[in-house]
Amino acid sequence: MKILGIETSCDETAAAVVKDGVKILSNAVVSQIDIFAEYGGVIPEVAARSHLEVILPVIDKALFDAKCSWDDIDAIAVTHAPGLLGSLLIGTLTARTLAILHCKPLYAVHHLKSHVYANWLGVGEFENTSLRNAPSLPSSRGSIAPVVARCHKGSSERYFSNSPLFPLLALVVSGGHTQILYMRGHNRFEIIGTTRDDAVGECFDKVAKILGLPYPGGPSIAKAAMEGVDKYPLPHPNVAGLDFSFSGLKTAVLRAVQKELKLPISHPSHDLHNHLSPEQVADFAASFQKTAVEILLKKIDKALELHPEVKSIVVAGGVSANQELRKEARRKLPKELPIYFPEPTLSGDNGAMVAAAGFFEIQSGVAQTDPYKLNIYPRVSIEKEG
Ligand code: KG4
Ligand code: ZN
Repeated sequence: MKILGIETSCDETAAAVVKDGVKILSNAVVSQIDIFAEYGGVIPEVAARSHLEVILPVIDKALFDAKCSWDDIDAIAVTHAPGLLGSLLIGTLTARTLAILHCKPLYAVHHLKSHVYANWLGVGEFENTSLRNAPSLPSSRGSIAPVVARCHKGSSERYFSNSPLFPLLALVVSGGHTQILYMRGHNRFEIIGTTRDDAVGECFDKVAKILGLPYPGGPSIAKAAMEGVDKYPLPHPNVAGLDFSFSGLKTAVLRAVQKELKLPISHPSHDLHNHLSPEQVADFAASFQKTAVEILLKKIDKALELHPEVKSIVVAGGVSANQELRKEARRKLPKELPIYFPEPTLSGDNGAMVAAAGFFEIQSGVAQTDPYKLNIYPRVSIEKEG
């Protein structure tokens, strides 16, 4: 089954064709990062207008790259929640129109669900090789049967593993969300931890601004941190259970920078970076990144204590591209537990993950949506969708 996935929830206009939820036939993404780097953040009106300008060429490219005509497409999946209102409207209205025009079933997908399903992409890429019969991974949590071997390319390491087994924990870390989800099976999501204020990606973006690093903050902080050392102690928030809080960490960085520069707390945050040396910027970036990663992994540890039956962990969303998070997760979390990260290029927003999520919705018996009625929900939780 070939699904066209369309994603426009924030500042990436993306479309992809994916076969059977796992095999990427094409993946076209036009990012607006260059536009928003100038402003230091996304401007919703500008984002919507940019989506409108490129959405049809992006869909055309996805079909062309996949060597597909409309006859080859079995269904359309589109992000309808959550995200920026104007951005979601462009993607959904386009998908609705195309579904009506080409008589294709239409599936509405929650953005966080798509991020999670980025971890299934790549399975089957090697279906004609011996990797298909990859050996089971030994695990104290039960033998893990090989489904189809998969290879994560593009990361510094190259490794093979199998599809994530249920029940699993999904750590979703993006610009708008930080949640721990418990998945009993495909398309069954329960939120067991969530941020009470800022998302971790948002925190990377805000700290980058304080340090004078370019938007988006995540990759800039990661790059700067490579030259720095973790020399500034930063506090961990005291939040009960599996919930997170990141606004305190951002303020802690602000105060630590002011203290380091011997400036009063009234000194405007937008001016601080003018007083920082490149070494100080790198050291603050390294200290912040290390603390943010520790906070995330501590909660995953706690979630594993509460759910010892869990058979795998998947990490998803823009921040899952972070190499420090990848390295520390593999180092600190139980060795016998398979941990999945998307290929770094699939950590951020893309159409392939939407198509994958659409496929698993169909497999789970979710009904197609009426193209004349499909609505957008800028703030709805994944549980309401589940
Ligand atoms: O998932 P995503 O592309 O969009 C949302 O759904 O929000 O996530 C974007 C977020 C941004 O906050 C960006 O700074 C962060 O992901 N990000 C990173 C990295 N790459 C992107 N954060 C840390 N390290 C990275 N390498
Ligand atoms: Zn996203």
